[in-house]
Amino acid sequence: MFRLRRVLLSLRPPLVQRFGTNGDKTHGESLRHGMGSSLVWDNIYSSKNSKDPSHFDWFCGYKDLQRLLLPLLCEMAPTIKHTGQPLHVLDLGCGTSDVGLGLFRDSDVAVLISCIDRSKPAVLAMRERFVHQPVIPKHQGSHLEYIEADVTDLHGVRSGSISLVLDKGTCDSLLRAGTQEAQRLVQEALRVLQMGGKLVQFTDEDPDARLTFLEKAGAGPNVTFHDLSDRDGITYYAYIVTRSS
Ligand SMILES: C[S@@+](CC[C@H](N)C(=O)[O-])C[C@H]1O[C@@H](n2cnc3c(N)ncnc32)[C@H](O)[C@@H]1O
Repeated sequence: MFRLRRVLLSLRPPLVQRFGTNGDKTHGESLRHGMGSSLVWDNIYSSKNSKDPSHFDWFCGYKDLQRLLLPLLCEMAPTIKHTGQPLHVLDLGCGTSDVGLGLFRDSDVAVLISCIDRSKPAVLAMRERFVHQPVIPKHQGSHLEYIEADVTDLHGVRSGSISLVLDKGTCDSLLRAGTQEAQRLVQEALRVLQMGGKLVQFTDEDPDARLTFLEKAGAGPNVTFHDLSDRDGITYYAYIVTRSS
């Protein structure tokens, strides 16, 4: 049995707001009890009470993560010299987060960002936002798309075709409904990643629990974790799994 390599790197000062970064605290209660339910998420994304219904970010947003994610894309850039294709990035369970949008806008290398969520209201809100507030990417070869799909069954995505998979809070959500579905997310992520590709999970789950979960899901030995913040007594982490076999 392999042992997961545990590396703890402190990245940056605190960045946390407990439930969302759009300044809307109205969803706190329903999320506390029902974040495993698709109905709860549909309600949040169709809510007319939000200050900005086209934006809800789970515990932190793009501005808090860009310092970690943009260099990761640059690290992977040499691989596209061989294929001539943009780096393909999946944001699993994107909701109405601004992470995909930010990477699309700011990446120095050409990227195809596919943001996937099973919530129709979220996907429609993001498509609409993109039409009404068009974003010009830094690299003219970059593309952004929003897809309604189940992240535990990525049958439309070719094995070994993806450079980077992001998961901010989606595995946490699935874990509320049971371990099996959450493991399916990780297994699908690993299947679609190319060799050397990375799955990055953002979560408040502590290393003992998350590393054990990842080991059981088949993540292999190349897992590192980064301590993102510890404001309000809650520590957030980025777990990075590199596909090695
Ligand atoms: C905690 S929220 C995180 C949303 C977004 N990543 C963020 O950071 O704001 C979990 C998201 O996962 C989505 N989700 C949960 N299970 C899913 C599944 N099986 N397939 C696709 N999306 C799913 C929910 O609709 C919700 O948008």
